[in-house]
Amino acid sequence: MKAKDVVYLNGEFFPRAEARISVEDRAFVFGDGVYEVLRAINGRLFATRFHNDRLRRSLDGIRISLEESDSPERFTEIGSQLLRENGLMEGEATVYMQVSRGVAPRLHNFPSPPVPPSVYISVSRFKPYAELAQTGANAISHPDLRWGRCDLKTLNLLPNVLAAQTAKERGAFEAMLIRDGVVTEGAKTNFFGVVDGSLRTHPCDNHILPGITRSVLRDLADGLDIDLEESPIKVSEIPRLSELFLTGTTTDVMPIVKLDDRPIGNGKPGELTRRLQKVLADSLSSG
Ligand code: PDD
Repeated sequence: MKAKDVVYLNGEFFPRAEARISVEDRAFVFGDGVYEVLRAINGRLFATRFHNDRLRRSLDGIRISLEESDSPERFTEIGSQLLRENGLMEGEATVYMQVSRGVAPRLHNFPSPPVPPSVYISVSRFKPYAELAQTGANAISHPDLRWGRCDLKTLNLLPNVLAAQTAKERGAFEAMLIRDGVVTEGAKTNFFGVVDGSLRTHPCDNHILPGITRSVLRDLADGLDIDLEESPIKVSEIPRLSELFLTGTTTDVMPIVKLDDRPIGNGKPGELTRRLQKVLADSLSSG
């Protein structure tokens, strides 16, 4: 029997293939909206509080107000309901939540009077990159062509899409984005590296997304007495990297063993990377 595939759209549940939005939805014509991706393991959503806070921050950042009856907490409840209805209470899944500014004739400024935001929530089966997590993956460097508010998780992802595609065409797992001579993050991940023995990652400012996995890992590293310096890795420091890895909801801790066809360190996942990979895996499985 085919698994059920039910999604939530604007207060109702539909089979995925029957869910419809207007061609005048501002997500469709402007990419005017925000989103979240959560991880579910055996039906349990990971780090919901962090995701809810970030969604609220993204909504505030682009000035979308939810309806009275809606909230990020309500969306995570709907996500849990979808996991149950779609038979995803065992194993790995992801929950996707999207809020757009709603449906209105195409004018750049906000609809006036305001229209209700469009809310879309769906769940999907997910398969972690288990093999690649063992061997390590390749990355390429790529110019960071994004706007000045990368800290908001907005829908308009064209620079990320183009960077990810270039990475794929060059046989790499991820594009490491470079702005003003420093590594910011990846097309869909945050980057960490070890330079001269120090673990470093870009600080949370307007040039990166404050990744949930990044912040969970920072706390886990703290618990292991591993110092993390939140200062950007310069392009000129790349040759001195002994370890490199990325983090994200759908990538966990992924070692990067080759960058632009040159090995990082000894070309194998580093020792610190392995420790952090394990501690994150333990935290994911214990909730
Ligand atoms: N991407 N940086 C960017 C640009 C991202 O899009 C993401 C997540 C991250 C990692 O954040 P987190 O740890 O909260 O997943 C960093 C999601 C998974 C996506 O767009 O599908």
